[in-house]
Amino acid sequence: MVFDPYTWRKDFPILNRILPNGKPLVYLDNSATTQKPSCVIDAMSRYYSEYNSNVHRAVHTLSSEATDAYEGARKMIADWFGLTDGNLLFTSGTTEAINLVAHSWGRANLSKGDAIVLTEMEHHSDIVPWQMLAEEVGVEIRWVPFDKENFQLDMGAFEISLEGAKLVCCIHTSNVLGIRNPIEEIITLAHNVGARVLIDAAQAAPHDRIGISELGADFVAVSAHKMSGPTGIGALFVNTETLTEMKPFLGGGDMIREVFLDHSTYQEGSFKFEAGTPKIAEAIGWAEAVKWLSNIGFESSHAHSIKLARKVADAFRSIPGMTVLGKQDNADAPLISFIHDTLHAEDMAQMLDAHGIAVRTGHHCAQPLLRSLGLASTNRASFYLYNTEEEADFLIETVQKLIERFS
Ligand code: ALA
Repeated sequence: MVFDPYTWRKDFPILNRILPNGKPLVYLDNSATTQKPSCVIDAMSRYYSEYNSNVHRAVHTLSSEATDAYEGARKMIADWFGLTDGNLLFTSGTTEAINLVAHSWGRANLSKGDAIVLTEMEHHSDIVPWQMLAEEVGVEIRWVPFDKENFQLDMGAFEISLEGAKLVCCIHTSNVLGIRNPIEEIITLAHNVGARVLIDAAQAAPHDRIGISELGADFVAVSAHKMSGPTGIGALFVNTETLTEMKPFLGGGDMIREVFLDHSTYQEGSFKFEAGTPKIAEAIGWAEAVKWLSNIGFESSHAHSIKLARKVADAFRSIPGMTVLGKQDNADAPLISFIHDTLHAEDMAQMLDAHGIAVRTGHHCAQPLLRSLGLASTNRASFYLYNTEEEADFLIETVQKLIERFS
């Protein structure tokens, strides 16, 4: 069946927005964050207007309703991600999830001289927490490069780097290149040498039905806001064996069993890592997003958005002086990073904005990746299921005209 983005775009009020300059919004910054359907906005508003209350604490009606909705959301999100065995810890997003691993597992299980493996494709959220740990504990970080022509990770270098490694951290799908890495092979090779594996799946979750338990990684981090859910919430999925090796991250209410003047005891499982009043409205909103997504054929929506990205990439590759990163293969994220020899990325983005087109510009929170390509900045157009062929054509025409006029 042909996927029709117009059916689904009606659910997003913001997509009717007319910008202050009178131009209709063409939103192509979906890798930074996706827009939210009305059902997500309404579910969060319903929580605040009808049963706003704290969870896990009181016996009154509102608290029971909020607790049921919050824990129901955890179950729905875990089911969406195919979690049949393991734990879902709510975090503020992918960044906090990775910091949690570095703090709770890393500080308890890594010591001076231990090696961890990262790739040159990592986003800053999967670099900086490890550098902080390396500085504090004396851990060695080994970097796996990628081929600068075909953008594939150097799997030979990866295998060499595994010698004695304790942990491998890898981005599932690059937010700059769109490339989907051979995650299954990476997990198998790492486990063969006894290393734990963390997968940063922030960019994969909107496009790839990640079966967390089937994937078998020790840690997987995701964010809700890149998959039609609210900002401020994400998750860390952890297998149970690994969870038992982790010390608490944040201390406070809800994560404790008993508190004495001289020590405290902690909850088991996910609760041990969720201190304080949790992200109740956000969890409810994320569950609603997942419910909404389950009405959409995930494969056909992804096929639609990668087709748009490929169309734009092919058109841009025929423009003299234009560099287009990535390959836009079927399994990749539907995004293209591009840069023109003479039209600076910032200028291009401002002129696109004047036409109503929103793209991201800069280093995309992946400076080592861009530096390895000899670049400081690119523009990035990223598509989602509500983008249309007309929007892709409009981007192509507008970029072509700007380059003819200004370069
Ligand atoms: N990681 C987000 C992006 O790629 C913020 O734009």
